[in-house]
Amino acid sequence: MDEPFQAYVLHETDAGVRGHLQSFSHAALDEGDTLVRVEYSSINYKDVLAGTGKGTIARRLPLIGGIDCSGEVVHSAKFAPGQKVLVCGCGLSETHHGGYAQYAQMPGDWLVPVPNGLNTREVMALGTAGLSAALAVAKLEAAGITPDQGPIAVTGASGGVGSFAIDMLSLRGYEVAAISGSPAASDYLLSLGATRVINRHDILADDKPLGRATWAGVIDNVGGSLLANLLKAVLPNGAVASIGLAGGAKLVTTVLPFILRGVSLLGVNSVSLTPSVRAEIWSRIASDLKPRHIDTIAGEEIDLAALPERLDSAFGAEHFGRSIVRIGATDK
Ligand SMILES: NC(=O)c1ccc[n+]([C@@H]2O[C@H](COP(=O)([O-])OP(=O)(O)OC[C@H]3O[C@@H](n4cnc5c(N)ncnc54)[C@H](OP(=O)(O)O)[C@@H]3O)[C@@H](O)[C@H]2O)c1
Repeated sequence: MDEPFQAYVLHETDAGVRGHLQSFSHAALDEGDTLVRVEYSSINYKDVLAGTGKGTIARRLPLIGGIDCSGEVVHSAKFAPGQKVLVCGCGLSETHHGGYAQYAQMPGDWLVPVPNGLNTREVMALGTAGLSAALAVAKLEAAGITPDQGPIAVTGASGGVGSFAIDMLSLRGYEVAAISGSPAASDYLLSLGATRVINRHDILADDKPLGRATWAGVIDNVGGSLLANLLKAVLPNGAVASIGLAGGAKLVTTVLPFILRGVSLLGVNSVSLTPSVRAEIWSRIASDLKPRHIDTIAGEEIDLAALPERLDSAFGAEHFGRSIVRIGATDK
């Protein structure tokens, strides 16, 4: 048990922050009342930013990367040994050693038992992307957006969050328009349940403060001018869930969608949820929001040894959906 293990560790280098595989000791893990033998992790947008140094994710270095992981409890103040658990966000790979390692140690409150109906591999196929998509769908529902009110637009559609959002919305009976910058992703997006695919470059900027009201709701992973333009085209009393910034963090808009059409802008933050919200949303992901196309969306599985190269080449590669990282899983 005290033997060193393999971990992908982020370091400050002459070329900025970079990660590599190295041996790591149990004693060097962060404190926490729960030790997990990690089976799977996954690759999120944030993991790519962290590993390539293109974004400041790790707040201290060296730090084990990986914002998500699932596995089996070794010992814990909260769970019985052998309990299958998962964690997404909670500061992993930001302020606390992350999931790209054979072991992870953290407070038990961060962990959620793997819900019935999903296994440790499937929860990492979903990971932070699936969790965020489910949170966004739940926020639209809580804002009163129902399938009969009109279509929902999903941006960054071919990415992890976008793919799961399409799958979940279509499962819940919504008409979904996938907004994508990847023409090659059309068939993939339609197979997940989108009823149409719109090239994001066709959603043009104009100077008008409001456009033709089209969308009952939007799940936005892109931010920037795409979000600004979509806000102008939301139906009265519609709602927009803002998740991401793949296209830019800046939002230049007017108040007119809010004060003339009653549009709501809803923020989604998957990192710092309360334990009860985490448990509740995972229980929905395993039941009424359970995506029908998990294997299609998470179509790639790599092992820890392949992770550094995969992260380095992630930006620029034409890749739809998500990648699972197999770490210590013994099942197949
Ligand atoms: N708020 C939260 O808690 C939370 C949680 C998870 C993720 N996020 C954020 O949500 C976003 C999506 O995450 P993800 O895991 O789905 O990432 P991903 O798998 O890398 O997908 C991002 C997608 O955004 C689109 N895109 C990429 N570059 C773009 C650009 N320059 N301009 C416009 N669109 C671009 C692409 O889709 P198309 O080619 O189909 O357009 C791409 O597939 C990221 O910004 C991430 O940081 C936030």
